[in-house]
Amino acid sequence: MAGGSDALRRGLMTMRYRAYAYTDEADRSRTLEEDVRHGLTASPKSLPPKYFYDTIGAKLFEDITRLPEYYLTRTEAALLEKLAPRLMRDLAPRDIVELGAGSAAKTRRLLDARNGLPGTVRYVPVDVDELTVQASAARLVADYPYLEVSALVGDFEQHLSHVPPPVGRRLVLFLGSTIGNLEPLSRREFLLQVRALLQAKEDRFLVGLDLVKDVKVLEAAYNDASGVTAEFNRNILEVVNRGVDGDFRPAAFRHLAFYNEAEARIEMHLVPHRTQEVNLRRLGLRIALSPDESIWTESSYKFTRASTEAMLEDAGLRLEGWHVDADRYFALAVAAPSR
Ligand code: SAH
Ligand code: AVI
Repeated sequence: MAGGSDALRRGLMTMRYRAYAYTDEADRSRTLEEDVRHGLTASPKSLPPKYFYDTIGAKLFEDITRLPEYYLTRTEAALLEKLAPRLMRDLAPRDIVELGAGSAAKTRRLLDARNGLPGTVRYVPVDVDELTVQASAARLVADYPYLEVSALVGDFEQHLSHVPPPVGRRLVLFLGSTIGNLEPLSRREFLLQVRALLQAKEDRFLVGLDLVKDVKVLEAAYNDASGVTAEFNRNILEVVNRGVDGDFRPAAFRHLAFYNEAEARIEMHLVPHRTQEVNLRRLGLRIALSPDESIWTESSYKFTRASTEAMLEDAGLRLEGWHVDADRYFALAVAAPSR
């Protein structure tokens, strides 16, 4: 990983907007090569879901958020809208760090509720998707005169130590149920790092969680009628092709998404239609694929209040607020440092 001075070299600055990239192109290529080699030679075969989000993947995700079947985004947005005035007034954060910020569309619900209050707020979006984070940060600066943006282009599982020290009361946001895309062991490591970001006892963590519910509702959200999720899933193979000079043919794979009740997670897989071989030239690797063995591309864990409480507690966080919609589809949890 590149150090701070490299990051500064790559920094983009305006008066109220800075962006730091804690990895350069060479680091990112190396990490992708290692991840692909490791994932596709393991059993079961897998690819890390963070590789969904190239320019096309980020656009497809935005399309997913508007699908009738994908209730997550609109339900969370409505909850945020309701909670925002109280949260921004009572907590009055001076420092907002958002992990996996993406287009930050929902964050605006919080920022709108802060309009008209005195003082400035520093906003630190953290995301692997450089273009999306930079475009959205630039728009936020233009739209909210009280905001200073210090964007961090990096991996929230690896680069949180580079989040600058707080400039006042801090609110860490992790929206969209992206926490569900982390496997339990790495999720615990990640939450310990989030806990370290909360340095004062008044600091808070606001996390969006998709809840356990009727299997039909869950499975429909990942098997939309218009096929956007299938396209999003297959796009990861284009990212791999570019990254390791591979010859995956995305059309040769079927999208598979189902709810694994025992593990409380949606699993997304890509299943080859036929036996085939792919050549990953930059890795000097040929991989044999057959319809009997899928490539596991994403887990999307679903939560209950009890599982959330336990997971937070395990990382030194205490559940302080629990806000759910009338259907109990989605929750916003507010957590405080417990020790
Ligand atoms: N928070 C937004 C976007 C969710 S999509 C929302 O609620 O709608 C998930 C976002 O997390 C994408 O922008 C993706 O680029 C980012 N992301 C996924 N894995 C990441 C990782 N390991 N580190 C940093 N960002 C990541
Ligand atoms: C970003 N993340 C929370 C989404 C999810 O629901 O797990 C990604 C996604 N995968 C398929 N559809 C949307």
